[in-house]
Amino acid sequence: MSGSFFQQLCLAFICYVIAMNAYGADNPPPAGIFENSACIECHQKTSPKLISDWRTSSHASSEPLADCIACHGKLHESTAVTARRDSACIECHGGNKSPVVHSYTTSKHGVLMQLERKSYDWKQPLSGAKYRSPGCSYCHMRGADHNVNNMVRSDLMNVNAVNDVEIETRKVCQDCHAPRYIISLLVSGEDMLEIARKKVREANTLVTQATEDFSNDELEPARKIILTMQKHLKNVYLGAGHQSPDYQWWHGQPALDGDLLRIKGIVGELHRKKSSAIH
Ligand code: HEC
Ligand code: HEC
Ligand code: HEC
Ligand code: HEC
Ligand code: HEC
Repeated sequence: MSGSFFQQLCLAFICYVIAMNAYGADNPPPAGIFENSACIECHQKTSPKLISDWRTSSHASSEPLADCIACHGKLHESTAVTARRDSACIECHGGNKSPVVHSYTTSKHGVLMQLERKSYDWKQPLSGAKYRSPGCSYCHMRGADHNVNNMVRSDLMNVNAVNDVEIETRKVCQDCHAPRYIISLLVSGEDMLEIARKKVREANTLVTQATEDFSNDELEPARKIILTMQKHLKNVYLGAGHQSPDYQWWHGQPALDGDLLRIKGIVGELHRKKSSAIH
C-alpha cells in the first residue's frame, strides 16, 4: 500500500477507532449463531441497561425461562425481526387458546395483525406507529423496554396498583390513538374491573362469614367457585387490557354473576338445612 506516513497513521487510527467500537452501539452487529451466555456477555457491554431491565423482569426467573434466545433465536442476522413477531410470544404464553393470547386475537388489533402482518416491514423498531396495528411486543416492549413488568400491574384486587402501569400504557396507545380517546377508554376499563372486583369481594365476604356457622368440608364447594372467580376476574382484566369485548363480557362479567349466584345458593342451602335441623 502506498501513501504518506501521515495517511498510514490516519488509516491506523481509523482502524483503531473501529476496533475499539467493534462492540459499540454504532456498529453493525456481528453475523453468526450465538448461545444465550454469549448474548448476555457481549450485550452487557453494548447495552447494560437493557440487560439489567431484563434481569429485573419476571422473564429472567420465569418457568420456562424467557432468555434472550427464547425470543430472539440464535441467528444474529434476523434477531430483532424474530423477536418482534407475535410468534415469539404466543407459544410460551399458552398458545392460541390461552386467555392471554385469545383475548388479543379476538381484539381489533389481533384481527388486523392476522390480516396484515405479511405486509409489515418487521425491520422497523417498535415505536412511532411504524406498524399499523400493534402486536404483543409493540405494546409490551415498546422502545425495546426489556422489563415487561413495567406495563402490567402486580395485583388485580388492588385498586391503586394501576397508577404507574397506566402511564406506560398511555404512551403506547398514544402512538396511534388520540390521548382523550385513550384516557376515557382506560377509565371505563378500570370501572369495569371495579364492578368485577365487587362481585369477588361479595363472594369472599359471604364465605368468610359462613365459616362461623359451617365446617371447611361444607364450604369446600363454595371455595372452589371462589377460585374460578379469580379466572373470570382475570378475563375481565384481559378483556379491558387487550380490548376484547368477548372477554370483557362473555368470559368475564356474566361468568362472575353466575359464580356469585351459585355461592349464594350454596350458603343459602346450608343455612336452610341447619335451621330445619334445629326445628
Ligand atoms: C460479540 C458481541 C455480540 C454477541 C455475542 C451478540 N451480539 Fe447482538 N449485537 C452486537 C452488536 C455490536 C450489535 C449492534 C449494536 C447494537 O444494537 O447494540 C448487536 C445488535 C443486536 C440486536 C439489534 C439488531 C437490530 O437489527 O437492530 C439484537 C436484537 C441483538 N443484537 C441480540 C442478540 C442476541 C439475542 C444474541 C445472542 C443470540 C446476540 N445479540 C449476540 C453484538 C453482539
Ligand atoms: C420477551 C422477549 C425478549 C427477550 C426475553 C429478550 N428480548 Fe431483546 N428484544 C425483544 C424485542 C421484541 C425487541 C425489539 C424492540 C424494538 O424494536 O423496539 C428487542 C430488541 C433487542 C435489542 C435491540 C435494542 C434496541 O435498542 O433496538 C437488543 C440488543 C436485544 N433485544 C438484546 C437482548 C438480549 C441480550 C436479551 C437477553 C438478556 C434479550 N434481548 C431478551 C424481545 C426480547
Ligand atoms: C420461554 C417462554 C416465554 C416467552 C418466549 C415469552 N414469555 Fe412472557 N412470560 C413467560 C412467563 C413464564 C412469565 C411469568 C408468568 C406470567 O406472568 O405469565 C412471563 C411474563 C410476561 C409478562 C408479565 C406478566 C406479569 O404478570 O408479570 C408479560 C407482559 C409478558 N410475559 C409478555 C411477553 C411478550 C410480549 C413476549 C414476546 C415478545 C413474551 N412474553 C415471551 C414466558 C415467556
Ligand atoms: C394493544 C396493546 C396490547 C397488545 C397488542 C397485547 N397486550 Fe398484553 N396487555 C396489554 C395491557 C394494557 C395489559 C393490562 C396491563 C395492566 O393494566 O395491568 C396487558 C396484559 C398482559 C399480560 C398480563 C396478564 C396477567 O395474567 O397478569 C400478559 C402476560 C400479556 N398482556 C401478554 C400479551 C401477549 C402474549 C400478547 C400477544 C399475544 C399481548 N399481550 C398483546 C396490552 C397489550
Ligand atoms: C401501532 C398502532 C396502535 C397502537 C399502539 C394501539 N392501537 Fe388501538 N387500534 C389501532 C388500529 C389501526 C385500530 C383499528 C381502527 C379501525 O377500526 O379501523 C385500533 C383499534 C382499537 C380499538 C377498537 C376500536 C373500535 O372501533 O372497535 C380500541 C378499543 C383500541 N384500538 C384501543 C387501544 C389501546 C387501549 C391501546 C394501547 C394499550 C392501543 N389501542 C394501541 C392501532 C393501534
